[in-house]
Amino acid sequence: MSGTATTSGATTAGAMPVATAPLASDARLAAKLAARYLNIADLREASRKRLPKGVFEFFERGSEDEVSLNENRAAFRRIKLRNKALVDVSTRSTRMELFGKPMAMPLAIAPTGAAGLTWYEGELEVARAAARFGVPFTLATPSLTSIERIATVENGRNWFQLYMWRERELSHALVKRAQDAGFEALILTTDTAVSPIREYNKRNGFSSPFHFNPSIVMDVALHPRWLIEVMLPYLRTVGMPRPVHFPEGSQGRAAGAIGSSARTMQGDNLTWDDLARLRDMWKGPLMIKGVNLPEDAVRAAAMGVDAVILSNHGGRNLDGAVSPIEILPEIVAEVGGKTDIIIDSGIRRGSDVLKALALGAKAVLSGRCALYGASVAGAAGVEHALTLLRKELDTSMGFTGCRSVAEIGPRAVWMGPVGGR
Ligand SMILES: Cc1cc2nc3c(=O)[nH]c(=O)nc-3n(C[C@H](O)[C@H](O)[C@H](O)COP(=O)(O)O)c2cc1C
Repeated sequence: MSGTATTSGATTAGAMPVATAPLASDARLAAKLAARYLNIADLREASRKRLPKGVFEFFERGSEDEVSLNENRAAFRRIKLRNKALVDVSTRSTRMELFGKPMAMPLAIAPTGAAGLTWYEGELEVARAAARFGVPFTLATPSLTSIERIATVENGRNWFQLYMWRERELSHALVKRAQDAGFEALILTTDTAVSPIREYNKRNGFSSPFHFNPSIVMDVALHPRWLIEVMLPYLRTVGMPRPVHFPEGSQGRAAGAIGSSARTMQGDNLTWDDLARLRDMWKGPLMIKGVNLPEDAVRAAAMGVDAVILSNHGGRNLDGAVSPIEILPEIVAEVGGKTDIIIDSGIRRGSDVLKALALGAKAVLSGRCALYGASVAGAAGVEHALTLLRKELDTSMGFTGCRSVAEIGPRAVWMGPVGGR
């Protein structure tokens, strides 16, 4: 393999046409971020200070007792890596292909509703960063930025995440808009049949769609920078930020909104027939997200789904739901290569990406890493988060003797003496 060393320590692999643009539009800002935030945990802490508590907790916390939220990290920590002796790893690359297109690393940005509250037009910032870096960006149904605006991002490789509502024609209209706007792939989320119980939102007064109440007013007053840089620009331009794909008059009553109770747009009657219908409608890659059971993955593969995403929604929905990294080997074995397996939930280090690939994932999604980066410095912050993850992945590859993503295999990890593979 040929390649030249980059500042991140990774190497470029010849002719791959991704991530050729500078990693941040402002090199000085990039250098400042690099000096100040050495890892995702640093970005998280800065994000906690910048955002109103209600907004930060909405991004950060999990449902009920947060068992899944905490377990997602613990599960990655339990998996150990093995150094590989005497391999020439002087030339390495984190690049790979997904759906026949090149990516700077095996990671895509997960859909996160209300990412637009991290920064003014936050979803556009995340999408721009992903495009410049060379990874796909997923726009969530409850986003504050429209499908059509995201489609204007230069070199964007955009995916659309669908919450299927009770009124199917409303959801199918969104699918058509994404197709018409040139989105590459569609993700159907299947793990939000009912509204999760997120007690912290009740305690801190935050709601989505965002609205002011006495506790949020106090919270925002304590974070004047967010008020001036994020909320006021919205109020001056579009008014109160709201999920733009929800039909008029439905605010707060759709799957994907917090505290959703009315049933008009909820997706609690979603079935495999809906997936079949989407397979007919959507011409590009189709993914199903929120899968936990091998038989569901096998069935989705048989229906022509291009990738199955194992996810517990980052610990935000069914508390106690198993961590995707733990069920990955079992599902990979059952699916037997008939479709790609992607996982998310708990990725905070590049070594987590390596662990997922070693256990059979084709790629990972990351939700909160991008949110932390966006709330610290918009697109530049997201690029910095991606740069950190890639540098860590590259380092783990070097230690484990993997020169390319294709070389990452089960010998790179150790699962423990009991219950291992
Ligand atoms: C603030 C927030 C909002 C989210 N909104 C959505 C959403 O609208 N649709 C969806 O399918 N998943 C949503 N997710 C779940 C993510 O797509 C992803 O599964 C999760 O963030 C992965 O875990 P991680 O944050 O530990 O990377 C959301 C996650 C967060 C943190």
